[in-house]
Amino acid sequence: MDIYERLEEDHEKQRQLCEDIKHTRGDSEKRNRLWRALRIELEAHASAEEQAFYSELMKEPKGTDETRHAVEEHQQMTEMIEVLDNLDMDADVWMKKFEKLAHKVVHHVDEEEAEFFPKAKTLFSEAEAKEMGDAFSERKPAEVRKQQAA
Ligand SMILES: [Fe+2]
Ligand SMILES: [Fe+2]
Repeated sequence: MDIYERLEEDHEKQRQLCEDIKHTRGDSEKRNRLWRALRIELEAHASAEEQAFYSELMKEPKGTDETRHAVEEHQQMTEMIEVLDNLDMDADVWMKKFEKLAHKVVHHVDEEEAEFFPKAKTLFSEAEAKEMGDAFSERKPAEVRKQQAA
């Protein structure tokens, strides 16, 4: 599987979790479980993506702007996740803040898929895309374990 297909697989999971969480209420078992799953997925995905994909894109003069933009958004999402983690899930403000994060997540993955991947496809060979896919698949489980332990 090449890097684009592999990242898109995660993105689909993220879109789905964001939708599912919008249909949860208060400090419920379901909201806690889905939020933990999304938080781990977002952080592990971003770390592995930076290591396997953006580190390579950064080396290309035509890819530095995209890399900076994406890494900045990863940082913004981390900050939003931290705020949500410290808020009472029963409070109305939790869902308001969550909706902002969900909006950001969807914007981010849409932009990666519609703009950054097509650009990367002009800069990397198919063999390189496959190698990056392997590197991502190898890195991701370790990043998930790191998040689970956090
Ligand atoms: Fe990303
Ligand atoms: Fe991504």
